[in-house]
Amino acid sequence: MGSFLDGKVVAVTGAGRGIGRAVALACAAEGAQVVVNDYGVSIEGGEPSSEVAEAVVKEIAAAGGEAVAVADDVSTMAGGQRIVDTALERYGRLDGVVCVAGILRERMLFNMSEEEWDPVVATHLKGTFTVFRAASAVMRRQRSGTLIGFTSGNHQGSVAQANYASAKGGIISLVRSAALGLHKYGVTANCVAPVARTRMSANVPMELKEIGEPEDVAALVVYLLSERARAERITGQVYTIAGPKIAVWAQPRELRAGYAEGAWTPERIADFLPGTVGTDPMPMLAQLEAMARAAADGQRPNA
Ligand SMILES: NC(=O)c1ccc[n+]([C@@H]2O[C@H](COP(=O)([O-])OP(=O)(O)OC[C@H]3O[C@@H](n4cnc5c(N)ncnc54)[C@H](O)[C@@H]3O)[C@@H](O)[C@H]2O)c1
Repeated sequence: MGSFLDGKVVAVTGAGRGIGRAVALACAAEGAQVVVNDYGVSIEGGEPSSEVAEAVVKEIAAAGGEAVAVADDVSTMAGGQRIVDTALERYGRLDGVVCVAGILRERMLFNMSEEEWDPVVATHLKGTFTVFRAASAVMRRQRSGTLIGFTSGNHQGSVAQANYASAKGGIISLVRSAALGLHKYGVTANCVAPVARTRMSANVPMELKEIGEPEDVAALVVYLLSERARAERITGQVYTIAGPKIAVWAQPRELRAGYAEGAWTPERIADFLPGTVGTDPMPMLAQLEAMARAAADGQRPNA
C-alpha cells in the first residue's frame, strides 16, 4: 500500500471491470476512499447488474481499503448526481472523479442506426458530463479537485466506430472546457487515452503493437489525481499510456494560414488554398492504407 492519495476521496465510473477496476483498486491501495460505480453491462451496454461494482468493493475491503458501490447508469443526470452524493454522504468530500465507463456498438457509418449512435454517445460523452457536472459544483466550493476523462486514439477517426470516435473527440473538448472553466477554482481536468488488455480491446480486429495492462493505466491515473501532478499544474492535457509508453498529445492549433486581398470567392480560394494553406495529412488514413497493403500480402494487419 502506498500513500499517493492519502485522505482523498475518488469516484471511478465503469470501475467494475477492465481499466476502471484497476483504477479503483490502485486508488484504494494508495490511500483513497473510493466510490466504485458500474452499471454492470455487456460490452454493447445491455443486461445491467449491480454485481460487478459490489465485487470490486469486496476486493478493496479484502485488501484493507475503503469503498462503496453505486450501480447507476452514468448516462443519466440522476446517476451522475448519485455517484457524487454518495461520496459526500459517505466520506464528506470529493477530490477526484475518473470517468472510465464505456460501451461499443460497431457499424459502418452508412449502416449505423440511431440505436447504435445514441447509447454510445450517451455512455461516453454524456456519461462524462453527468459526473463532471455534479462533481465540479462540489470542487468549485472546495476550491480543489481533479477531473479525469477517458478518450481513445480513435478520437482521430475510426472506420467502423463513428459513434465511439465522435464521443471520444467530444470528451477531449469537454475536458479542455472543464480545465478552462474551473482553472480559477483550483480544479484540474485531464484526459487519458489508454491501450490495455481488456474485453473491449479484445474486440479490435488488428494486432496492436503497443499495448499494456489496465494496471499501467491505473498508475497514470493515480499520478494525475495526486498532489504531485497538481503541483506541476497539469491541466487540459491528453496522455496516451500503452504498456511502457506514455505520450502527450498536441493541443489543436492552426497549422498554416493565408489572407485574402479583398473578398474571398470560390475561384480565388481554388487558386490560393492548395498551394499556400494546403492540407495536413491524416496519419490514420496512411495507417489504413498500410493495413490494406498488409492484408493484400496475406499478413495480419497491425496498428
Ligand atoms: N482497453 C483499451 O485498450 C481502450 C482503448 C481506448 C479507450 N479505452 C476506453 O477506456 C475505458 C475503459 O475500457 P475497458 O477496456 O476497461 O472496457 P470494459 O468493457 O472492460 O469496462 C467498461 C465498464 O464500463 C461499464 N459501463 C458501461 N456502461 C456504463 C454505464 N452507462 N454506467 C456505468 N458503467 C457502465 C461496464 O459495465 C464495464 O464494466 C472506456 O471508456 C474505453 O472506451 C479503452
